[in-house]
Amino acid sequence: MINVGYFITFEGVEGCGKTTQIKLLSKSFSTLGLGTVLTREPGGCPIADKIRAILLDADNRALSPLAELMLYAAARAQHVTEVISPALEAGKIVLCDRFCDATIAYQSFGRGIDRGVIDNLNIQACQGITPDLTILVDCDPQLGLERARRRIEASSGPREERFELEALAFHKRVRAGYLQLAADEPDRFLIIDGTDSIENIFATISEQVVTRIPEALRAVC
Ligand code: TMP
Repeated sequence: MINVGYFITFEGVEGCGKTTQIKLLSKSFSTLGLGTVLTREPGGCPIADKIRAILLDADNRALSPLAELMLYAAARAQHVTEVISPALEAGKIVLCDRFCDATIAYQSFGRGIDRGVIDNLNIQACQGITPDLTILVDCDPQLGLERARRRIEASSGPREERFELEALAFHKRVRAGYLQLAADEPDRFLIIDGTDSIENIFATISEQVVTRIPEALRAVC
């Protein structure tokens, strides 16, 4: 399928600040009158949200790397079918908090699963959809983990911390994976320094994103 809308994904290690930024961008697009869908992975629709609960539950530490990979792919297949594909076909701007690059960074660079296996699963699950722009909010995993753990402690919701409990070395491999992906596809990726202030990061992202959105979509504002 060719995207009629525009597909932006946000990526980065735990606690990099991408979720704050994607929410700010979504709000700003809505204020401008741009048709926007804000979603996330794993999750984004009821069935994929149930898979998310299994994936992030710290009690499921016995989940095997291969089972974990398959669950991410299953959640993505449902999410693309139910949410992302219809929104892009309707000409919307889709903002997604993590997508297929996360599977390469976490399950291949992090867990060590063969990249070919992951690429094949991503091809099936994404059903021809690829991000037009990927914003990588880059940050030292040590700093990110400290922020993420503070957020988990302050939250009254379910403790989604299976990955926060992984060793620092795992998160360093994930970061290196993201940077490698960005180096391989410099036209698709925009790397942002996640240690800057929320306001400065948002100013940079907005400036860069507006110039990349196709004229036809911008014209409505
Ligand atoms: P979040 O904390 O950004 O909501 O992401 C949920 C966790 O799932 C995060 O630790 C990264 C992980 N993840 C993967 O390992 N593989 C994937 O394909 C995706 C989408 C997320």
